[in-house]
Amino acid sequence: MSIVVSGIRPTGNLHLGNYFGAIKSFVRMQQEDQCFFFIADYHSLTTHPTPGDLHGNVKNVLVEFLASGLDPEKATLYIQSDVPEVAELYLMLNMNAYIGELERCTSFKEKIRTQPQNINAGLLTYPTLMASDIIIHKAHKVPVGKDQEQHLEMTRTFANRFNRLYNIDYFPEPVAYSFEQNLVKIPGLDGSLKMSKSDNENSAIFLADTAEVIRKKVMRAVTDTGPAEINQPKTQAIENLFSLMNVLSSTETYDHFNELYNTCQIRYGDMKKQLSEDVVRFVEPFSEKIKELHSNGDYLRKVIEMGAEKARISARKTISEVREIIGFKSF
Ligand code: TYM
Repeated sequence: MSIVVSGIRPTGNLHLGNYFGAIKSFVRMQQEDQCFFFIADYHSLTTHPTPGDLHGNVKNVLVEFLASGLDPEKATLYIQSDVPEVAELYLMLNMNAYIGELERCTSFKEKIRTQPQNINAGLLTYPTLMASDIIIHKAHKVPVGKDQEQHLEMTRTFANRFNRLYNIDYFPEPVAYSFEQNLVKIPGLDGSLKMSKSDNENSAIFLADTAEVIRKKVMRAVTDTGPAEINQPKTQAIENLFSLMNVLSSTETYDHFNELYNTCQIRYGDMKKQLSEDVVRFVEPFSEKIKELHSNGDYLRKVIEMGAEKARISARKTISEVREIIGFKSF
């Protein structure tokens, strides 16, 4: 049995990218592996949320985890900040992480480009906090989307470095994992390569969206003027619509519109109408459960208390062993 760890930042509602990149694998892995799934609220502090927003978003993610089929009896579901051992391991890992390698991280360079006014130390050391999340439970597999691949590579570097430094085979080497053949990247409706909550609200479809909102978003999705010749390569925006259709519609539907595209007969309006109905059909069961769970405060509290307790047992064990290895020994 493998140990599985993964987390999601509470920065808003969960979208189809989160679902197909990560949660779909969580739901399957909880059946056979020892799983720890958490809400990464320490990580979200890099964006300086208000206390009210932070709390609301943590609740949203918890509710959406449960609505997606995560089972608190099977997997350990917890809030990262309920396990302060994570912060202790993060401090220790930071001592052996080099500024140069942290600065070279793609997601950090991206932040420098997109938000130069808020480049804080938390962003620089984001990979060591993430490594701590993972190795605190001595994980083997980390179900994530394609965008997290480099962070996993850095996690392996930090885990191996610890083992080498203390000459002990203590932390396993965790790998980025997906139940699909490859790591997944769901594109945005606005022509962007990755569906994301932060860039543009209209680029993402959320699990909590109503049918009406979904139809509006899909019908507004970016397209182009249409193919001018047979088998013309698709522009990014059109490629995105087909990628979404590939995961949400039937193979016949995908093939039908692909054929229309390749023979220059496609009408994007028809394609979007079909796609929006397929998205609505997919999202509706989630949004209904989300509504139900939001009003069930007692149950949510119970889930979180149980998760915190289970996660801390595992984390405490690792921290006490790590302290011993490092030389923090009792007299
Ligand atoms: P976050 O919160 O940005 O995203 C959560 C998960 O959703 C995946 N994802 C996507 N997958 C496919 N297509 C998309 N458009 C898309 N958008 C998001 C992400 O790959 C991720 O799996 N650093 C992490 C949170 C984290 C974590 C961890 C993950 C903190 N500690 C330890 C794993 C293990 C993050 O920001 O994900």
